[in-house]
Amino acid sequence: MGGSYSDLAGKVVVVTGGSRGIGAETAREFAAQGARVCVVGRDGGALDGVVEGISKDGGAAVAVIADVTDSGALERVREETEARFGPVDVVAAFAGGQGFPVPSAELTEERWREVIDSDLTSAFLTVRTFLAGMAERGSGAFILMSSAAGRQPSLANLAYGAANAGVVMMARHLAREVGPKGVRVNCIAPSAILTEKVEAMMPGEIKERVAADHPLGRIGTPGDVAQAALFLASEAGGYLSGITIDVAGGKITN
Ligand SMILES: NC(=O)c1ccc[n+]([C@@H]2O[C@H](COP(=O)([O-])OP(=O)(O)OC[C@H]3O[C@@H](n4cnc5c(N)ncnc54)[C@H](OP(=O)(O)O)[C@@H]3O)[C@@H](O)[C@H]2O)c1
Repeated sequence: MGGSYSDLAGKVVVVTGGSRGIGAETAREFAAQGARVCVVGRDGGALDGVVEGISKDGGAAVAVIADVTDSGALERVREETEARFGPVDVVAAFAGGQGFPVPSAELTEERWREVIDSDLTSAFLTVRTFLAGMAERGSGAFILMSSAAGRQPSLANLAYGAANAGVVMMARHLAREVGPKGVRVNCIAPSAILTEKVEAMMPGEIKERVAADHPLGRIGTPGDVAQAALFLASEAGGYLSGITIDVAGGKITN
């Protein structure tokens, strides 16, 4: 059962990583609150599926295909969203997810750069694309995506841990810098979340072990993360900036 945030109705929300997993569910939840949503990813077919689902439920959404490591592509996202819905109020920068474990001695320079690009530089470029407009209008909210792997050492690769720790600091730094302009920047750091991909990849017995490793006794869902995003975007979270919400089922990850 989700929360209800009437102030989100009519808001223009960009969700990167909106083609699947956590981002897709977050896009659906924003649309269910009456927000107008731009879903961003690289897989056009998957994006169209998300938009169709939202439209069928009576919501408003548009898809823009873009690689979030490319600032030119992000600029196109901004232009196309503004042309369709008007100025952007909320950006959920959720694209990424390159945590696959690699022993650090075997982590190539190329792979390091790819992960940093995908999970850290993408967040910076996404913020930079929308920040000036929000600051000019004197309002806006960013929700950045980190991970439990950016809060505590984990089995994920070193670059992913470093990138996600960087995202936490990005939110803190930006909150201080752009708060006076009316822009809030927060972050979410999920522990294990059962997306379609994780569901398909994780054997049942491992799922049980991961669930038991969380005090609330289950693995998180994309909906759990989406609810935190709605709260941070809404006026209910209006005095929060620079914080990271650990969506982690009671596991202490910070
Ligand atoms: N699932 C978890 O347990 C978990 C835990 C902690 C943090 N997270 C974080 O949550 C975020 C979403 O993860 P998820 O589990 O939902 O992953 P997912 O199911 O693999 O989805 C990843 C999403 O990010 C998009 N994406 C990735 N790189 C992109 C790029 N360069 N340009 C544009 N879009 C890109 C993908 O779009 P396309 O496929 O269309 O390219 C897809 O929509 C990630 O940042 C991940 O690090 C996940």
